[in-house]
Amino acid sequence: MNDKLVIFDTTLRDGEQSPGAAMTKDEKIRIARQLERLGVDVIEAGFAAASPGDAEAIKSIASIIKGSTVCSLARANERDVRAAGEAIRPAASGRIHTFIATSPIHMEKKLRMTPDQVVEAAVKAVKMALEYTDDVEFSAEDAVRSEMDFLCRVFDEVIKAGAKTLNVPDTVGYSIPVLWGERMRQLIERVPSSDQVIWSTHCHNDLGMAVANSLAAVMNGARQVECTINGLGERAGNASLEEVVMAVKTRRDVFTCDSRIDTTQIVPSSRLVSQITGYPVQPNKAIVGANAFSHESGIHQDGVLKHRETYEIMRAEDVGWSHNKLTLGKLSGRNAFRTRLHELGIIMESEEALNVTFARFKELADKKREIFDEDLHALVAVEGGVDTCDRLKLVSLKVCSETGETPHAFVVLSDGGTEISADEFGGGPVDASFRAIEKRVESGATLLLYSVNNITTGTDAQGEVTVRLSRNGRIVNGQGADTDIVIASAKAYLNALNKLFGAEERAHPQV
Ligand code: KIV
Ligand code: ZN
Repeated sequence: MNDKLVIFDTTLRDGEQSPGAAMTKDEKIRIARQLERLGVDVIEAGFAAASPGDAEAIKSIASIIKGSTVCSLARANERDVRAAGEAIRPAASGRIHTFIATSPIHMEKKLRMTPDQVVEAAVKAVKMALEYTDDVEFSAEDAVRSEMDFLCRVFDEVIKAGAKTLNVPDTVGYSIPVLWGERMRQLIERVPSSDQVIWSTHCHNDLGMAVANSLAAVMNGARQVECTINGLGERAGNASLEEVVMAVKTRRDVFTCDSRIDTTQIVPSSRLVSQITGYPVQPNKAIVGANAFSHESGIHQDGVLKHRETYEIMRAEDVGWSHNKLTLGKLSGRNAFRTRLHELGIIMESEEALNVTFARFKELADKKREIFDEDLHALVAVEGGVDTCDRLKLVSLKVCSETGETPHAFVVLSDGGTEISADEFGGGPVDASFRAIEKRVESGATLLLYSVNNITTGTDAQGEVTVRLSRNGRIVNGQGADTDIVIASAKAYLNALNKLFGAEERAHPQV
């Protein structure tokens, strides 16, 4: 009998710390429902003390999700722990994840605390968290650069205080597999009562080794891996959930544990997170990249046709590639539309929102014969963002673009219900459209990133555009989708502006 490997997904917390990946409550709920369907054991739904909006989103997720434990992060202080405790109160199974840094550099320069004070704060936070739930996790931030003796002391004390999961983070992505595995082995060997708790690993990908390090920790006794869909996360990201899960499953000859993940939900989860955050998945990304199962070279194709296992170690359908199915068409009715949304975990907040989205679906079905699940997600992501500020809306856009002429855009917007219009020239049709919008809105935002991807295949596919804007240190991603990529671009630009105008002040847990 294999041990159970706990999969702790932090897409909604560490993943959300990626630049511009901040999500609305509605978007977080959609991802949480998909993570539950995927079979994730613990969903870290956010950092409750970041803002009232963050606390509210965690609370909503806690009241909806029944099949996974819902967790909130908390620094080791009273305000954070109480905010986390309140946020997870409605959960069928709730966890508080409290942390404090234990490395000399973090204790001295960031916390300005002595090692004794750090131990005291850790113990106090764990005890306080136990007032809300008996499922308390403790993390020693920057464990990778912490002194081993001190790390053992902190972990010993928090076990005595009642922590059930001990997480060992490589916060800065500095380790390499042989050292990370050894660190886990030594901790389990040296910390008293280490067999009474679950040891966890949380690795960042700064040197491209987050997954390898996580697996090395598992081989040395860790039984929880903290990871994110598509490896989203701070800087170079976190360990990618799909890679960890499939490595453990595919190499059963090496690992003595396994997760309860429904691997056929991996690709749908990847698509959803990418669509909502605007972070595209690189084509050669393991498991979920568009090329992960395509065999370009003739020799490989021949081999795969004769016998699949000549070049394939996993089956595309086992990770959900065949789930990309045709769902609805032009003749589909409102009920079929609502039912499919429901099956995808998308619950519209009101009949009015459903009607608006259904009308958009009909418009799309007129332009595009076949509607896939991805199209529906894009439709809802763009049209159904009920809790984003939607001050600006695109009323119409006309762009003149021809060889030898400077592109010229004419845009009509609704600004809080009042129609405004502008025209402007630009280097290309997208540039002209953005300039026309800026001429009236005067946001002063800087464009950091512009990217277009096709949602499905074919020239009638919807283009999915991401626009990343920054203003006064705040970074947001806006998304837009349309069969016309210039219109999709204008929608993405307005979506980003709405997010900039609506964003509330939020605290970062690690700064
Ligand atoms: O990377 C890290 O150390 C973290 C902690 C908050 C667990 O994300
Ligand atoms: Zn982290």
